Amino acid sequence: MAVDRLRPQYHLIAPDGWMNDPCGPVWVNGRYHMFYQWGPDKAAFGNIHWGHATSPDLVHWHHEPVAMSPVPGGPDALGVFSGCVVIVEDQAIAFYTGIEPSVQCTATSDLQMMQWKQNPVPVLSEPPPGLHVDGFRDPLVWKDHERWHMLLGASVRQSEFGPGGVILKYDSENLKDWTYRTVFYGPTHQAGSYDDAMECPDFFVLGDTWVLIYSLGSTVYYASGIYSEGAFHPRIIQPLGYGSFYAGRTMLDEHGRRVLWGWVPEKPERSHGAMEAGWSGVMSLPRVLTADGDAALRLAPHPNLAALEGPHFRRLTPSSWAAPDGPNGRIRLTFIGTEAGRLTFGGEGSFLELDYDPYRPGKELMANGDSAPLPLAARNMLDIFVDGSVVEIFTSSGVCLTTRAYGNTNVAFKLSVEGTFREAVVSACAMKPISPDRLTSSPV
Ligand code: FRU
Repeated sequence: MAVDRLRPQYHLIAPDGWMNDPCGPVWVNGRYHMFYQWGPDKAAFGNIHWGHATSPDLVHWHHEPVAMSPVPGGPDALGVFSGCVVIVEDQAIAFYTGIEPSVQCTATSDLQMMQWKQNPVPVLSEPPPGLHVDGFRDPLVWKDHERWHMLLGASVRQSEFGPGGVILKYDSENLKDWTYRTVFYGPTHQAGSYDDAMECPDFFVLGDTWVLIYSLGSTVYYASGIYSEGAFHPRIIQPLGYGSFYAGRTMLDEHGRRVLWGWVPEKPERSHGAMEAGWSGVMSLPRVLTADGDAALRLAPHPNLAALEGPHFRRLTPSSWAAPDGPNGRIRLTFIGTEAGRLTFGGEGSFLELDYDPYRPGKELMANGDSAPLPLAARNMLDIFVDGSVVEIFTSSGVCLTTRAYGNTNVAFKLSVEGTFREAVVSACAMKPISPDRLTSSPV
């Protein structure tokens, strides 16, 4: 895996096996901690643990010993599913879903977070009665007005509004005894995962805008608006990610920026290749979230990513692309938005094919079969991160399109542009790897 040119070099990725959702990202005592859903046995979902990595700056990551494993005979014997971490004085408390059936569990640690004690007694051992809940998972806990609040992703077969994916709300005075309050959001009738549950809720304020994030089907959504007297009144409901991006969760960085992370899954056609390669799934790059005056959210790459930039290329000739260890780079284009443009990055055969057409409403941007909106503007901007098979494209409209590229990497890479991109102002560089071995070394 350390020489697998499709495996990223500057994204956080599990040492091996399967990776999905970010869990409980948090900045504490001057260090960033990321936990994530990790299946160590194979590059396919199963036997889910919480993996752990730390970073001084959100971009350089180092693997730590596994945080939580399924405990035989415990409420999480069949999986330590997604959740969050809250810090209470000198203690870290993880809330997560134990499987099977779904129960809400806790674990505690000191602020180093290197040794977690899983509590054998769940804090919520069954869903609220009367709603006929199917899915019931992914706790998010926060404090306001001296009370603790919990959101849970769920699906209901029956409610006063009908069936579908919902977010349930609980509250507590002591983090131990929880009272069910209400269906906080939903139901939506859109089909979700196998049990239609809304997954991975997150809830926070950005300026004066309250934002709920949730995942459903294969898309991360946000709802933003007003939160008052325990009730949430969304004004906007929109996808927060396009393409291969799921299970978004946020944290505050050391400067108080709201940073979004998500799971970049493999494409379905890669499942066999992933098993052979021994790894599946990557953590996205950190994305800074802001809200504009209308409560619409915008995403931008975290400024700390600039620390990974190598020297900028003067000319984009084939020989100038210094990426001997596989596809890797950051390419910025500023172009006239009223005409179509095309960019390809790769060698013989296709690798990344990106196509912009201002007259293709809602799908102005297409890359390797995925699409995102990039509304007509006099000038538009793309900020493209390529790292092995992972491609993240930030746009001047504040949306981000994530796609995957599994083409031939054993060739010299070349950047080619056509149409309006020919006139673009281009800035490009290689990105420095964050480890010598593509993060394949596990801690002992
Ligand atoms: C979202 C999800 C969560 C669940 C976790 C299991 O991708 O399905 O709802 O807790 O993955 O790994």
